[in-house]
Amino acid sequence: MKKIAVLTSGGDAPGMNACIRAAVRFGLSKNMEMYGVMRGYEGLLKGDIFRMFRHSVTDIIQRGGTILKTARSERFFDEEGRKEARDRLAALGIEGLVVIGGDGSFNGAAKLACETDIKVACIPGTIDNDLNYTDYTLGFDTAVNTVLNAVNNIRDTMSSHDRVCIVEVMGRSCGDIALFSAIGGGADAVVTPEKGLDLDALAAQLKQGEKLGKSSNIILLSEGVCSAQSLKEQLAAVTDMTLRTVTLGHVQRGGSPSLRDRLLAARFGVKAIECLIAGKNAAAVGVRNEEIVADDLQKALVYPAADRSELFKVCEILCR
Ligand code: F6P
Repeated sequence: MKKIAVLTSGGDAPGMNACIRAAVRFGLSKNMEMYGVMRGYEGLLKGDIFRMFRHSVTDIIQRGGTILKTARSERFFDEEGRKEARDRLAALGIEGLVVIGGDGSFNGAAKLACETDIKVACIPGTIDNDLNYTDYTLGFDTAVNTVLNAVNNIRDTMSSHDRVCIVEVMGRSCGDIALFSAIGGGADAVVTPEKGLDLDALAAQLKQGEKLGKSSNIILLSEGVCSAQSLKEQLAAVTDMTLRTVTLGHVQRGGSPSLRDRLLAARFGVKAIECLIAGKNAAAVGVRNEEIVADDLQKALVYPAADRSELFKVCEILCR
């Protein structure tokens, strides 16, 4: 293999730029010709592919977002589209592709790897932490730190007014952003898709807190359960506490990556290029027990979910 391209796909995540930098610079150090693809699979289909050099990734390690931009492509999910994408790469002599993205991007990459002669290495880049084969996805740590900063500010004002605040966070159907932020931020309750919403128990918990003289209550709510507004309406029907809502939204997706994400970015980028150079096809790079792993992509996609019972227990005890 002589030529490798890199793309970012799906929702952006802090650390994507640091990862592009790592992949490009490591590839160049191994005498690969490196290429960038703009706007994920859309750019691949349009042939929006350009040569990357060492200086192409200067001054990006600290920047959120992705210099390669990103998109969610419908066309790539057709076999026809994937064949077109393969032809675009083949026309430039590119044999290897690094895909940085979430589960949708991984699914597309798995099909490309199995239907064509392009070799693919996937890197988990999403704030959601919803790829089970890896302990952490790139961007999750930064997103949780962003939530923690917001929770600190929210707590100041809520405790001044003796209010309850429902803080809605992202994560799709994965509750990790909510759960980790609840523990790290000393929240009073957490509501996630994994546990579901028990309205009566939540209301009872808030009342108990009120009795104990708590001056504020922060509820971390995962978007996969319901909206903050919906939970506010449901709670308002069973309690007379003063309720406010904050939906953190895309604030969670931006910002300079944390050290943890920068380290993951560097290690993931290097591993992905190593896999391609070694001729490994359809690899999913990840981290388990602090070690960088390269799993079979198909297996990675059906990996069982991590057991969060200990974290839920810790959260429940400390939240009370
Ligand atoms: O997958 C990342 C994510 O930020 C989710 O947490 C969220 O549900 C979704 O993307 C938002 O997508 P969009 O940016 O398209 O609104």
